[in-house]
Amino acid sequence: MSAPLQPDPRIDQAAVTDESLIAAHEKLLGKQPDEKGHYRLLPLNVLFFLSALIMFGGTYLGRYAGYFDPRVYNENMKHGGGDGAPAVAVDPVVLGRKLFNNAACNTCHQATGLGVPGAIPPLVNSEWVNGSEERLIRIVLHGLQGPIKVAGTEYNSAMPAFGRVAGSGFNWTDEKVAAVLTYIRQEWGNKAGPITPEKVAEIRTKEADHKPWLAADLEKLP
Ligand code: HEC
Repeated sequence: MSAPLQPDPRIDQAAVTDESLIAAHEKLLGKQPDEKGHYRLLPLNVLFFLSALIMFGGTYLGRYAGYFDPRVYNENMKHGGGDGAPAVAVDPVVLGRKLFNNAACNTCHQATGLGVPGAIPPLVNSEWVNGSEERLIRIVLHGLQGPIKVAGTEYNSAMPAFGRVAGSGFNWTDEKVAAVLTYIRQEWGNKAGPITPEKVAEIRTKEADHKPWLAADLEKLP
């Protein structure tokens, strides 16, 4: 059972009148800082600084970004020899090695150039790689199929077209074809001369969209 309710002595002691309550609240409210009055969006100098930064950034991109054209950045560019010539030359061996090993030729002929016994002919010591430019360029431009003898061994399979010709899944420029051929002609102990993009262009123009070659037809060429 709870005790009978007693009047709380604290209520009696507190001499609270309506006036004193209102006065106390007004005092409290009056001391609140007026937040809206003190609020500033941004100090003016920061605003100036940001505007200047945006102007500088915009001008910089307009001047140097090259309209964000992917061709502007050429990772294969080599700097010239300091004779005042424009520094735009690409080292074909560097480009060729990259192309060869970038899931193109290496998937079949292997990074070693040794091919796969019984299936894919080698590029090392191959008379096709080290011999006639006319034949070699046509193989990579249009592809190759049917029986072929390489370094004394017979193969009979097919290789895809890499050039800018109909039916090519690669569409490599003449520069790329020339670079990869220049690369394989000096790698793994091969010692044949470079192939120029001009020679590739000449043959591509002449043969247009020829179908994959037969070794027997290539052997009729010089
Ligand atoms: C899909 C596999 C495949 C790819 C990729 C491939 N080749 Fe071939 N390559 C072959 C086959 C198979 C032959 C033989 C074709 C035949 O039997 O008629 C051949 C033949 C050749 C030959 C003539 C024979 C020899 O061994 O010298 C050359 C040169 C050659 N390839 C170079 C290349 C180059 C350079 C690339 C990359 C640009 C490349 N191949 C990509 C499969 C491939």
